[in-house]
Amino acid sequence: MCGIIGYTGKREAAEVLLSGLSRLEYRGYDSAGIAVFENGAMRVVKKQGKLSVLSGELKQSPLKGNTGIGHTRWATHGVPNDVNAHPHFDQKKKTVVVHNGIIENYLEIKEKLLKEKCHFASETDSEVIAHLVARAYKGDLLEAVKRALKVLKGSYAVAVMHQDEPGRIIGARFDSPLIVGLGKDENFLASDIPATLEYTKEVVYLENGDIADIRGRSCGIYDIKGKKVNRKSATIKWDISQAEKGGYKHFMLKEIFEQPVVIKDILKERTHGPEIDFNELKIKKSDLKKIRRIAIVACGTAYHAGLTGKYIIEKFAKVPVWVDTSSEFRYRDPLVDRETLVIVISQSGETADTLAALREARSRGALVMAVCNVLGSSIAREADGVIYTHAGPEIAVASTKAYTAQLSILYLFAFYLAAIRKTQTVTQRKKLLAELGRIPLSMVRILDNCHSRKNPIAKYAAEFHEYYLARNNKSCFLYLARNINYPNALEGALKLKEISYVSAEGYPAGEMKHGPIALIDENPWVVCIAVQGNTYGKMLSNVQEIRARGGIVIAIVTEGDHTLERGDIRYVIEVPKAPEIFSPLLVVIPLQLLAYYVAADFGYDIDQPRNLAKSVTVE
Ligand code: F6R
Repeated sequence: MCGIIGYTGKREAAEVLLSGLSRLEYRGYDSAGIAVFENGAMRVVKKQGKLSVLSGELKQSPLKGNTGIGHTRWATHGVPNDVNAHPHFDQKKKTVVVHNGIIENYLEIKEKLLKEKCHFASETDSEVIAHLVARAYKGDLLEAVKRALKVLKGSYAVAVMHQDEPGRIIGARFDSPLIVGLGKDENFLASDIPATLEYTKEVVYLENGDIADIRGRSCGIYDIKGKKVNRKSATIKWDISQAEKGGYKHFMLKEIFEQPVVIKDILKERTHGPEIDFNELKIKKSDLKKIRRIAIVACGTAYHAGLTGKYIIEKFAKVPVWVDTSSEFRYRDPLVDRETLVIVISQSGETADTLAALREARSRGALVMAVCNVLGSSIAREADGVIYTHAGPEIAVASTKAYTAQLSILYLFAFYLAAIRKTQTVTQRKKLLAELGRIPLSMVRILDNCHSRKNPIAKYAAEFHEYYLARNNKSCFLYLARNINYPNALEGALKLKEISYVSAEGYPAGEMKHGPIALIDENPWVVCIAVQGNTYGKMLSNVQEIRARGGIVIAIVTEGDHTLERGDIRYVIEVPKAPEIFSPLLVVIPLQLLAYYVAADFGYDIDQPRNLAKSVTVE
């Protein structure tokens, strides 16, 4: 977590840094700060709170100069306050550092430095880096950073400046992302591409252990052994407008509405007639043919996509699949071997637990395939093969379009594997692809009804809000579903709790009688996913059981199905008819919107919910 940026060139550094930080704020937003060379002296301004607080401060006392570094923080060591905010100086205020990651041996280093009479200003782990670099400095910042990094254990992306070398920034990465943006007479460092996209589309993805030495007119990159290396740059194809709100009130809403186009583009790019094309996947078909089991490993929303993937892959490719959260997989002595395909799913490609799970799986000889959104991310690079979701930048902390993009890739991968394993005929695949091809239009139909706040989902959210306040916040949500929509119940609950802070749980509806039904009285609102399919009848019985105990039901049903309305269910949301196997792509949209509107009614910061950050690069 945390976002870092560096700039050296001819522009006003403070402006570039603030603009970059605004695009990195999704990575952490409890404090922010910048350091700029001003008339040969390094000046730092840093403030607790969102970036707007820092911007306000800089309006009062601007920083003028053409080289600087900046940081937006998600606190790990030390509470969010002005002192713990980055950048951090060394004792003599000659070295200044921003850091993303965790220095695991910082206490040991700190103890040693304290014995040497080093004075610490903050409670952060990051400050040790500034002191170490300062002590190693003998007139060349690159050499000093190299020496300091040798002492560190843990993960880092850093940007460092020194008083005696204006115009120079040293960046380094180990297990936390860092890119170099290459411009004309200017260069950048950043945690993620949107931060520099306004100025350049030419980027270099630094590899683990790389150190970048940037000045206005030069950029040198050194590998972990200190040898100068030539890293190829990539040209980013997407536009900065894709990382802006485009008229929507929040990124989350924009990203929900982008889903039909994202899915349509995935299908267009990946299918040629009945053939599925994963051109970038380096894993050979002959190797996929040999696998006997699949483990899907991911966190949060990506884990829910993985759970759905189990239903899909087992159904079409007839391979047994199990699904793990990355944090459990990595510590569990997992039974994976050469005959196991491990699929890691990650929007950011930087989630620390998923990256560690990937390494664990590879060390046991498993074949690892990543499904990732962010090009060149650590997970994408370290896996044996990657399939990109190409969903464009996802800025809102709550994941929406990445989820449906991951699901779409999993459908296509299941068909791809089914073709290799001969568990599906070409005719069957053609029919399935035709049905999948109709999903984006059905998504548009759901969304078309939701442009104004008068839509039923917004109305139900508003009624819940009143109900909640009237009961002194006593209400909560349950999400129930069966079969392929069960993971959507988990996802609906996750979306609601993470942005509206209302307690919410998802359950397979068949588990109700084994405990959760005890929660039902007139307080909880229960979202029942009851679209047409082979467990539809069972879901109707669950709805009746909830109603019989006074629970309030929001039912998600197939368009034209008035069965529940004819009963006494007031809150009904219809989704277009689709084969049950593809229904998760449709059902999730009302769940995302319901969470969005509930949070909007509370007036919460939807794109940046409390305590969260977009990419979890620490354990
Ligand atoms: C929820 C959410 C998180 C992420 C999780 C994994 O809306 O965004 O639960 O899904 O942190 O992140 P990635 O996919 O980047 O590995």
